[in-house]
Amino acid sequence: MDLLVVGGGGREHAVIKALRKNPEVKTIYCLPGNAGIAQDATCVPIGAKDLRRIADFAVEKKVDFAVVTPDDPLVLGAVDLLEKAGIPCFGPRRNAAIIEGSKVFSKHLMQTYGIPTASFETFDSREKAYAYVASCPLPCVIKADGLALGKGVLIARTREEARDAVRTIMENRKFGDSGKRVVIEEFLEGPEVSVLSFTDGTTVVPMVSSMDHKRALDGDQGLNTGGMGTIAPNPYYTPEIADECMRTIFLPTIRAMKKEGREFRGCLYFGLMLTAEGPRVIEYNCRFGDPEAQVVLPLLESDLLTILQACRDGTLADTEVRFSSRSACCVILASRGYPASYEKGFPIQIDSSLSASVLYAGVASGADGSLVTNGGRVLGVVETADTLPEAIRKAYSQAEKIHFSNAYCRKDIGARALKALQK
Ligand code: AMP
Ligand code: GLY
Repeated sequence: MDLLVVGGGGREHAVIKALRKNPEVKTIYCLPGNAGIAQDATCVPIGAKDLRRIADFAVEKKVDFAVVTPDDPLVLGAVDLLEKAGIPCFGPRRNAAIIEGSKVFSKHLMQTYGIPTASFETFDSREKAYAYVASCPLPCVIKADGLALGKGVLIARTREEARDAVRTIMENRKFGDSGKRVVIEEFLEGPEVSVLSFTDGTTVVPMVSSMDHKRALDGDQGLNTGGMGTIAPNPYYTPEIADECMRTIFLPTIRAMKKEGREFRGCLYFGLMLTAEGPRVIEYNCRFGDPEAQVVLPLLESDLLTILQACRDGTLADTEVRFSSRSACCVILASRGYPASYEKGFPIQIDSSLSASVLYAGVASGADGSLVTNGGRVLGVVETADTLPEAIRKAYSQAEKIHFSNAYCRKDIGARALKALQK
C-alpha cells in the first residue's frame, strides 16, 4: 500500500513511524514533511494548505489511503476534497472540523448538549466585549474564535488586562480574522489532561491519556508555545475519572455532532481540566495533538493503519485498539528564544550512541546534506519505559546526545506528573 500524510512536524513524524510498522505499507509520501522526516518517508514540497495540489498529487500517485493531521487543512476541507477525488482519507470533514475551527461553535455545542465546560459569553462586537469585561468576574479567559496556532487564548487577572486582551484580539487583530468573534469564559483551575480518541462517528475509543507542557519556561512560566514536552499516561487521569469523562463528555460529544449533521470521523482531542467540581472541557481539537501524538502513538500496540481505516469506514467497534501499560516521555529541543524570535540554520549533531526515537519538526537540509535547525521547535526526543520516572530519566539522558547552537529545553517535563504519583 502507498500512503500519503499531510503535514510536516513532529506529530506527522510520529504518525509515519507508527504507520511504518505495518508490513503492507510500501511508500509513505509526506506533504511537505521536512528533512528529518525524509529518513522515514518520501517528502514532497507541497504545502499542507495547498489542497488542490495535495488532491492532484494523491490521484497522480494513486495512493491507497491519506491521513490529514494538521488543523488548517482539516478546517479548510482537505478530507472532503480528497474523498471527492476518490482517495479514502482519515480525518474529519470540514463541517465536523469546525469543532476546533470555531470556539463559538464548540461552546454553543457544549451548552446545547449539557457537556461540562467553563461558563461563557460570545461577542462579535468589540463594544459589547469591552462592556462585558468592565464588570465580569475575574480572572477571565478571552479566546479568539478561530485558529491561532494555539496562541489565541489570553488569561486576564485585572480589568485592564481584560480590556487589553479584547483590544489585542478584536481591534489589533493579532490573530487575524480568527479574532472577529471572541469567547469570554470563566477561569477554571485544576490539572490539565489531554485525551486523544479514535472515532468513526458512533464509537469512540480513547487513547492513553497524556499531559502537555505549554509554557516556554520551567515551572509553567513564560509564553505559551505549541508544547515543550509531554508524558503519558497522565497520573491525574484515574480510571474513575476516565469513566466519568466517557459518560459526560466523550459519548455526548460524538452523539451531539452526529445529531447536528456533522458526524466526526477521525481523531477527536479532548483538552480537559480536572476541577474540584469534576472534569470540564477546555478545548476540542479535530486532530492528534502535537506533541501528544509523540508519546501516545509509541504506546499503541495495535496496528495504526487498521484503526485509521476503521474510523473512516465506520467499523471501529470491531477493531482492536490496544495500548501498552508502559509510560512515555517526549522532551522538545527548541531554538532559544522560541516562541518569540530565535536564530536558525545551526547544524545538528547526534552522538552515535543515541538510541531514543527522534521526531523531527523544525529542521532543514544544510549545504552538505546534514540537518540544520529551521524552526522554533526543532525536534522531540521520545523514550518509553516500564515506569514514568524511568521514561523521563531516559528521555533527558538521550536528549544530552543531541547538540546544536542555541538549543533549549524545559528541564521539568513530567515533574508535576511525578508529584501526583507520590501523593
Ligand atoms: P486552549 O488553546 O483553548 O487549549 O487554551 C490554552 C491554555 O489556556 C489551556 O491549555 C489552559 O492552560 C488555558 N485555559 C484555557 N481556557 C481556560 C479556562 N477557562 N480557565 C483556565 N485556563 C484556561
Ligand atoms: N498540544 C496541543 C495541541 O496540539 O493543540
